[in-house]
Amino acid sequence: MFKKLALGAVLAFALAPVATLAAGGGDQHIEDYAFSFEGPFGTYDQNQLQRGLQIYTEVCAACHGLKQVPLRTLGDEGGVGLDGDQVRAYAAENFTVFDAELDDDREAIPSDHFPANTGAGAPDLSLMAKSRAGFHGPYGSGINQFIHGIGGPEYIASLLTGYTGKEKEEAGKTFYENTAFPGGWISMAPPLGGEDVDYIDGHSNSLEAESQDIAAFLMWSAEPKMMARKQAGFVGVLILTILSVLLYLTNKRLWAPIKGKKTS
Ligand code: HEC
Repeated sequence: MFKKLALGAVLAFALAPVATLAAGGGDQHIEDYAFSFEGPFGTYDQNQLQRGLQIYTEVCAACHGLKQVPLRTLGDEGGVGLDGDQVRAYAAENFTVFDAELDDDREAIPSDHFPANTGAGAPDLSLMAKSRAGFHGPYGSGINQFIHGIGGPEYIASLLTGYTGKEKEEAGKTFYENTAFPGGWISMAPPLGGEDVDYIDGHSNSLEAESQDIAAFLMWSAEPKMMARKQAGFVGVLILTILSVLLYLTNKRLWAPIKGKKTS
């Protein structure tokens, strides 16, 4: 009897931290969206990235910078895929940068980065999709992340659609209730409400669609070479598979005389 009790107590202590971990990541609601770039062969959807760029430019850039991202990468293959003229026009039309040599502001050119923007206390978005985890996995162990990915873009899309409409004032600041944000209250007012931009490709501009488009674009900004990485990985696995087969056959041949089989 005593032994059983002791065992129970030990188990309770051992499991307590596990339970807290689960609660830590558990009360957020993150929707598991099916993005085109998921899985070993997933690729970015160029149209979606262009729509996301439009949302960033027209809505998010008012508060958020993308300072790690060079404007010229908008022309990279496998990504947003603008052509050279479009990149130049986009940079010049949308951003001005301070040029130390001219000692003056000038229109941005492709070799500049997207400007930083910290005015409103908004974090830089360049790497946001990789710095937030949407999935924490059973008991905070993260096992789910092997299957679903870490869920950064899912987190962003869920954040943008996760406003409940409730607000509260605290220390002179307004906070908005959000079902995806850890802790439940974020100081960013809902940036999207649906129909915030008009897409030239005629795609839906509902809140859901816009949120997924900007989330995909921010995944690209955080990992612009994802497609090249997946391809290199695939070639690597292929070469290693061929090598394994060759090694297996060589091994078999080398051991054949010792194992008493005929060689040739
Ligand atoms: C009016 C200014 C403003 C606009 C416009 C804006 N944001 Fe924010 N955003 C903020 C502020 C301020 C924070 C910091 C909120 C906090 O930590 O409570 C923030 C935080 C974030 C975060 C980080 C949340 C986290 O987990 O820490 C993401 C992601 C984000 N914004 C995405 C966007 C996207 C995408 C857009 C465009 C659709 C956008 N924001 C538009 C002000 C803005």
